[in-house]
Amino acid sequence: MQDYLQAHKGRFLDELLELLRIPSVSADSNYKGDVRKAAEYVRESLAKAGADVAELHETNGHPIVFGEKIIDPALPTVLVYGHYDVQPADPLELWTSPPFEPVIKDEKIYARGSADDKGQFFMHVKAFEAMMATGSLPCNVKFMIEGEEEVGSNNLGTFVASNREKLKADVILISDTAMIANDVPSIDTGLRGLSYVEVEVTGPNRDLHSGVYGGAVANPINTLAKMIASLHDEKGHITIPHFYDDVVELTADERALLESAPFSLDEYKTDLDIDDVQGEEGYSTRERASIRPTLDCNGIWGGYTGEGAKTVLPSKAFAKISMRLVPNQDWNKITDLFAEHFRRIAPKSVKVKVTPHHGGQPYLTPLESAAYRAAEAALAESFGKKPVPTRGGGSIPIVALFEKELGLKTVLMGFGLDSDAIHSPNEHYGLFNFYKGIETIPLFFKHFAELSR
Ligand code: BES
Ligand code: MN
Ligand code: MN
Repeated sequence: MQDYLQAHKGRFLDELLELLRIPSVSADSNYKGDVRKAAEYVRESLAKAGADVAELHETNGHPIVFGEKIIDPALPTVLVYGHYDVQPADPLELWTSPPFEPVIKDEKIYARGSADDKGQFFMHVKAFEAMMATGSLPCNVKFMIEGEEEVGSNNLGTFVASNREKLKADVILISDTAMIANDVPSIDTGLRGLSYVEVEVTGPNRDLHSGVYGGAVANPINTLAKMIASLHDEKGHITIPHFYDDVVELTADERALLESAPFSLDEYKTDLDIDDVQGEEGYSTRERASIRPTLDCNGIWGGYTGEGAKTVLPSKAFAKISMRLVPNQDWNKITDLFAEHFRRIAPKSVKVKVTPHHGGQPYLTPLESAAYRAAEAALAESFGKKPVPTRGGGSIPIVALFEKELGLKTVLMGFGLDSDAIHSPNEHYGLFNFYKGIETIPLFFKHFAELSR
């Protein structure tokens, strides 16, 4: 295995770079053709690697790539999930090299999607190829690589619900998260859920002269800003009634275990160029970003934002708001609570519209499962260090759906780093991480096959 990986590492990288050159931005319909091109590239790479089945499934949105290699129906099956779509690359001017012309700098691959998630799911394709080539695939494997993760996986739910037999497996394996550091392997044992909404605040029926009317008529931007500010109290708690009702508090032991993982607040602040952190009272920075629910304004606009000044009292103001959720919050319930509260706190001088976008449930991996222990053993073997359990702050909404529709638990064996700048300009993925992932995945298969005997 090591010999095969060593002999082919240059080609593995070249093939990833080729995939990274395809701008598969799922959110922007201008890239629809490129998204399909990326899907086709993935399908072909699975076929070449030795999959018996490698096909595209059409959806109402972007296609889903499915592949499988069944060596023996009596053996366990690992279902690998990933996404070949990427976030939009803007703001383009902040990239030091073009987002879809990957370059290697300081041992890192710079390109949109390099870490999230092309560089990560592609490790699985290459690990599969290596296991096939060396005759060491110890169990069955299926691949489901989708093209709509970054826009809410709207069509994947239907695909999963109507293909239960096809997707039959024993565990889901995903590399789409981060670990603590290259010398501190870790495994995310949970993901936050998400409720994403857009709000519209309307004041007067048209834009007004801010001198003629200003002071006498509600300014929707001022009002919206005040409403958003009121959603947190001075202790950093979210003020929506019943918001915390279903939140599971961790035990002291669970908190201590999570806190035992190394973390430097000074490095955190230096990396972000901030003099202080802020957040919910009574919780550490890491806890605030993982085991606690949050509410953030992701965008806010209205009125005049062009060059120079225009005196205007706008008719409307808008904001996009996300809430990260933790077990056992339900995203539909939270969305309703938000909408009800937001309407209630609006003064009579404005009208409010709340539009839910998408969401997903939070998720937890059981630490005592064969799959988690296999991941632990695999990382311990390849890093020479037992991985620590962590909780991820991000969301992969489909993971909870896999559990509901397929009854399957997921192991989040991610090889990225928080500093990879995913969703940001200059996204990158370490060559070390790419190769380490390819080396570790076959070990997961080996341990999983053994542990599930
Ligand atoms: N890979 C990320 C999720 C992630 C990143 C989880 C780091 C844990 C650590 C995924 O592609 C993503 O960006 N998810 C979105 C949600 C989706 C509905 C747009 C997110 O978390 O904002
Ligand atoms: Mn991702
Ligand atoms: Mn993402």
